[in-house]
Order: sequence, then C-alpha cells, then structure tokens
Amino acid sequence: MRVLGIETSCDETAAGVVGPEGILSDATFTQLEHVRFGGVVPEIAGRVHAERITATVDEALARAGCERPDAVAATAGPGLIGALLVGFSWGRASAFAWGVPFVPVNHLEAHLLTPLLADASLDFPFLALVVSGGHTALYRAEAVGRYATLARTVDDAAGEACDKVARLLGLGYPGGPLLDRLATRGNPSGIRLPRPRSRGLDLSFSGLKTAVRTLVETEPGLLPEDVAAAFLDAVVDVLVDRVQRAVAATGIRRLAVSGGVAANSRLRRRLADLPFPVTLPPLTLCTDNGAMVAHAGRARLLAGHGEPPDARARPVWAPGEP
Ligand code: KG4
Ligand code: ZN
Repeated sequence: MRVLGIETSCDETAAGVVGPEGILSDATFTQLEHVRFGGVVPEIAGRVHAERITATVDEALARAGCERPDAVAATAGPGLIGALLVGFSWGRASAFAWGVPFVPVNHLEAHLLTPLLADASLDFPFLALVVSGGHTALYRAEAVGRYATLARTVDDAAGEACDKVARLLGLGYPGGPLLDRLATRGNPSGIRLPRPRSRGLDLSFSGLKTAVRTLVETEPGLLPEDVAAAFLDAVVDVLVDRVQRAVAATGIRRLAVSGGVAANSRLRRRLADLPFPVTLPPLTLCTDNGAMVAHAGRARLLAGHGEPPDARARPVWAPGEP
C-alpha cells in the first residue's frame, strides 16, 4: 500500500509517499515569507500553503513514480487552523476524487511514529520523546494509536524556547538551527543557568528563557556563543533527566526521539550516550515533512484505524485521542 502524506500544520508545505519498502519521496517547501517577521504569521502561512500545495504534492507523486496512491493522509491537527485546512481539504478532496481512503493524521503522532520509519529494530513498547516547536512531551507508546502521556511542558515547548533565546541573541528565524550552529563554538563553563524542575516528570522552559534574558541584560559583555551553549546545555540536561526518570519509573529501556529539536546536535550527542538503545531519525525526518504523515497514515490504516466518520481539522488534538 502506497500512501501520500500531506503536511501543512505550520510553515512547511510538505508531501511524501511511503510504501512497504519505505520512503518513496519526500518534498518539503519551507516558507521563507515569515523570516522578515521573526516568526510564523498564520494568515501568510495559510495563503502560501494554498499557493504551493498542488506543486508540492505533484512533485512528491512524480518522484515516487506514483500516479494514484492507495490512500491519502493529511495532518488534521494540532496546528494553525488556517494552515491545517489547506492540506486537510486538499487531501480529503483528492482521496475522494481518486476513490481511495482518507486518513486524518495527528501531527504529534506522526512525529512520534517517525523513529519506526528510520529504525527497523524499534518496536513497541517504547518511550517517545517528542520535542518540537509547539509541543514537548514524553509518551509511553504501547501500539499505533495507544500513547500514555508521561510528561509535558507546562509552559514553552523546547523549540519555542530555542526560537525565543535565538531572538534574544539577535539571530534570525527559525532560531533553533542557528542557535545550534552558534553554540558549537561556545564555551558554557563560565555561565550558570537553572535546570527547571516541576511537579513529577513535567517540563518547563519559560523560567530558563527568562534567566537567559536577565543574564544577557545584566552582563552585556558575554559572548553570544557562550550563552547559546549554556542555554542548550540546560535544555539538554532537563530533557535527559526526564528521560532517565521515565525509564526508571516505567522500566522501559527503549527511547525514540522526534520533532524539530531532535535535530539539535548537543541533544543527539547526549542521548546517544545513554546506556540503552535510542533511535534518532535523520535530520530531514526530525523537522516537519510529508513522509512522516504518509507513514503515520499508513501505520493507522494497517492497524485497522480507518477514516473516522467525523474527520475534521482541529487546532488542539492530543495524540491517540479519537
Ligand atoms: O517539528 P518541527 O519542525 O515543527 C513543529 O511541529 O513545531 O519543529 C520546529 C522547531 C523550531 O522551534 C526549531 O527552532 C526547532 O524545532 N529546531 C531546532 C533545531 N532544528 C529545528 N532546535 C534546536 N536545534 C536544532 N538543530
Ligand atoms: Zn512538527
């Protein structure tokens, strides 16, 4: 079964085709229209998705050598509603025209399942750390569609905190990758930043972001690369701490990491050193892409989750929630 996946939840217009043999194509168009605003402008995102969607899907189908997929999956949430509606409506209408099933896909579930696409040795149950721009959470993944939330951020997501700190340091947008690159030449040793704790396993990044702001304001002589390195070390320490505590609490010694921040080089290095198997997808599959949506849609169909009668796009939607 070859599945076309469409992703338009934020600022990437993306489409990919996944079949039994794996990824057949993956076409991602990153919207640069937001750069001069320093963040995603929802109205612009929706309009650019509408302009790009047909060419992006055509490219994915052509590269896969696929004229008509066996099913269409599209991100239905969570995300910006005006952006989601473009891919969702395109996907549903084309599935109807082709006479094939349509699968609405949860964006976080698509991230969460991506490591299965990248690593054939990974199997349920596993701990899933999803670290993206809008969400940061740790799940116990039992099966396709069955996820127990072990921890989530009580304020900013890790990617959001990276983007905000990048802005504080005068870097451009999107800030995460620029911060990552800057930090490679930084020395964090002279800078002390808090490691925020919260109740249970939950995460919190907003206090850390404020600590960086205070630091930059009170010590203007600090080198931006040192601040970037110290901030990323704190983020990574907090994430690794929660993973280790989740392993101790559940006894599951298998971790799969996904979402844009999973592309971070410091996080990847630290996670790879943990004393249990950790799957980190290749960088192109960490940030938003169409193949992850195709893969999740395909996994849902194979697991017997067909098209729900009330398929709709929604800005808020937890993975596994019907
Ligand atoms: O998963 P994603 O592409 O979109 C959402 O679902 O939000 O994640 C985007 C987030 C952004 O906040 C971006 O700054 C961050 O991932 N990001 C990174 C890196 N690459 C992307 N953060 C830190 N280091 C990176 N290398
Ligand atoms: Zn994402």
